Amino acid sequence: MFFYNIEKRLDQLLPVESERDCVGLAMREGALAPGKRIRPVLLMLVARDLGYHDDHTGLLDFACAIEMVHAASLILDDIPCMDDANVRRGRPTLHRQFGESVAILTAVALLSRAFGVIALAEGLNSHVKTQAVAELSHAIGIQGLVQGQFRDLTEGSQPRSADDIQITNHFKTSTLFGAAMQMASIVASTPLESRKKLQYFAVDLGQAFQLLDDMIDGLSDTGKDAHKDVGKSTLVNILGTKVVEKRLRDHLRFADYHLASACNNGYATRSFVRSWFDKKLAIVD
Ligand code: IPE
Ligand code: IPE
Ligand code: MG
Ligand code: MG
Ligand code: MG
Repeated sequence: MFFYNIEKRLDQLLPVESERDCVGLAMREGALAPGKRIRPVLLMLVARDLGYHDDHTGLLDFACAIEMVHAASLILDDIPCMDDANVRRGRPTLHRQFGESVAILTAVALLSRAFGVIALAEGLNSHVKTQAVAELSHAIGIQGLVQGQFRDLTEGSQPRSADDIQITNHFKTSTLFGAAMQMASIVASTPLESRKKLQYFAVDLGQAFQLLDDMIDGLSDTGKDAHKDVGKSTLVNILGTKVVEKRLRDHLRFADYHLASACNNGYATRSFVRSWFDKKLAIVD
């Protein structure tokens, strides 16, 4: 249900005026290509578990803003000077379709659109929007995705300790989940104590999510280039799949605990997270 609302709203929020609007078309391709939408779905689910019910598109727009930021991060992650990937979401990567300069411009345009969408979101007051902007900009910047990507690119080809990898994974993956959780809590006027617990949830969830991503690197049906992590110091490559799977399940247990205590037992979100990972882990086993 949330998934389809997100698809539809993303489509509305990224219109193109003409077939010659190359960056506009690329923005649609980057954001609308079939992704899992886990961040925006979680944002919507947690807001509901926090007791928020709306009859306007404000929350949905926040969810779409998160997805636009995520799409921008994938476009940049794939370009030749970063991971140099050919396939994303089952299609040629954006720079393969539109060229490298358009890919970079598209990522910038999606980031900028994300903040514009927050600013114009219907039914939410300016204090809510200001706080959301602060959370999202923090998650993108030097204490977030940018930091994680920089560390991954500069240190990934060298030996790293498990702790170093975990810190990098925190920046590159947990921070955006954190922003999604904080944006949901801001909309739902959640007390600080619960917001902190949701932050802990996001930290563990992000770790679990990145471990799963590293575990499926060798599979051929992920919609991404297989074996991209060969020679990279990921936790899977230094500790092995069995140890990583155990760490992943530990992170999920902690995530579930924090989620339960953050939001009235969090039934909808907890059951979503559980069944989502169960399905993915069944494929890996
Ligand atoms: C890929 O994210 C990048 C990582 C943080 C591992 P997703 O696995 O959510 O990618 P899409 O959005 O479904 O394509
Ligand atoms: C990237 O991690 C995480 C981002 C925030 C872009 P990866 O480089 O492992 O992501 P994939 O495997 O290309 O999706
Ligand atoms: Mg990468
Ligand atoms: Mg990559
Ligand atoms: Mg990966």
